[in-house]
Amino acid sequence: MEKDMFEAVDVRSGAPGSVDCELIVVPVFKGEATETQFFAELNAATAGETQRAISQGEFRSGTNDCFIAPLIGDAWTARRVALVAVDPKNLMKCRPAAARIIVAARSHRVREVGFLVRGDVELNSFAQAITEGMLFGSFDDRRYKTGEGRDGPNSEEMSLHVLSGENDEAMVKDGVRRGVAIGTSANLARELSNEPPNLLTPRAFAERARAIVRDQGVEVEVLDEGHMEALGMGLILGVAQGSVEPPRLVVMKHSPAGLAGGPVLGLVGKGVTFDTGGISIKPSESMDQMKHDMGGGAAVVGAMRAIAALELPIRTIGIVPMVENMPGGKAIRPGDVLTSGCGKTVEVLNTDAEGRLILGDALWHARQLGVTHLVDVATLTGACVVALGKVASGLFGQPSEWVHTLQQAADNAGEQVWHLPLYEEYSDQLKSEIADLVNIGGRAGGACTAAAFLRAFTGGLPWAHVDVAGTAWIEESKPEAVKGATGVMVRTLTELASMSETWAADN
Ligand code: BES
Ligand code: MN
Ligand code: ZN
Repeated sequence: MEKDMFEAVDVRSGAPGSVDCELIVVPVFKGEATETQFFAELNAATAGETQRAISQGEFRSGTNDCFIAPLIGDAWTARRVALVAVDPKNLMKCRPAAARIIVAARSHRVREVGFLVRGDVELNSFAQAITEGMLFGSFDDRRYKTGEGRDGPNSEEMSLHVLSGENDEAMVKDGVRRGVAIGTSANLARELSNEPPNLLTPRAFAERARAIVRDQGVEVEVLDEGHMEALGMGLILGVAQGSVEPPRLVVMKHSPAGLAGGPVLGLVGKGVTFDTGGISIKPSESMDQMKHDMGGGAAVVGAMRAIAALELPIRTIGIVPMVENMPGGKAIRPGDVLTSGCGKTVEVLNTDAEGRLILGDALWHARQLGVTHLVDVATLTGACVVALGKVASGLFGQPSEWVHTLQQAADNAGEQVWHLPLYEEYSDQLKSEIADLVNIGGRAGGACTAAAFLRAFTGGLPWAHVDVAGTAWIEESKPEAVKGATGVMVRTLTELASMSETWAADN
């Protein structure tokens, strides 16, 4: 088992002046009075800069402001202080601020950052949010650079500092533990999604997934094309047949000791390692981005790691179908009919609607393995990006109680999802002349008809579908994140598993 994961962020306690790092981060809460002894001491150590910045409005606690000043004299060990504005009513919002600090620290060659966990807030969630944010900001992938581009100060030392009693320290440690499990897992998911498609083939993806979760005690089974053929998974095999790279289906099981009965959460993630569109080929512009068409699968791998690392008391099965969607002499054609593992037949009218095909077989397989509640995460449709932009993921599913549970998990985790409709009529757009279903429903309501297609494979189980086509990838670097994969949904899925007591009984 991996031992050092929880060492990514340190927890220490003591007086603020004794925090021994280059940059100390001090949260200032919205509406907080700064005429206190704490701020008086900080003001003195910054030679009056703190009060000046606050009274002149250079730093405003009600916004996302950040203000950095040098610390002078011997009262504080740290060399600089950063004030960051935090809304005590929405602690998750401090995550981007914590990320920005780490990104800024890196560009200024500051290697040790300590965050002071103070204030009259729930220290557990505050510490978790800070930890997740710092880890998010520390992500800087240089694996494929050489020479000067490769080095760079990419190993910040990050710590959280507690001021008072031991009770607080225990709370902060618990939050940091959750934050580290989730933050490092989200970064592993980002790393996988950024991986170039010539290197992250379905076989390589399967081995990486195995290595990532096995360290946390997750049981892994990798089905190859022979296995899938025996099980009749014609949809996964159909999509894969145009590629020289064989498909894989990864099954990851988290089985907490002593939990025999009860619900089984099934997490399914789209794992298309590259989506050319197949014979219905995509335009070449930005086609390179289709290397992240396995972002949903990466999120499931990341969530399985976090769920197991936190030893969450809920049986969970993660399933990721992995394929490459290529044109070629052996590729499926528009017009082909494929038969799924559950027996349903699909007339493929567009080979670029491949995600729903592989997910159809994967959802069916999850049911075969005995899951009671389903969630899938997929970079499924451009239509979802048109509907919601890059601001929120699309959420679909049934029954509404289960969809609301997922919405609650996302809200708690600070990830934006928006519930979109799944009326019965959408399924009418998927009727085929010659088979049970077609795989595209026309231009109207493209994200909804894709979800309706998936519904046909859920066997009536509680099921939620999250379309992350717009949220799994950012095209331009931002102050809090580098360009590339976001690791979206690792947090929400982990939160969903940790909320299991709230949904296990009533769904
Ligand atoms: N992987 C794409 C969806 C996608 C688009 C993901 C943009 C991320 C960013 C998916 O396989 C796809 O090609 N969908 C088609 C469906 C259509 C053929 C019905 C689409 O959205 O155009
Ligand atoms: Mn496609
Ligand atoms: Zn795709």
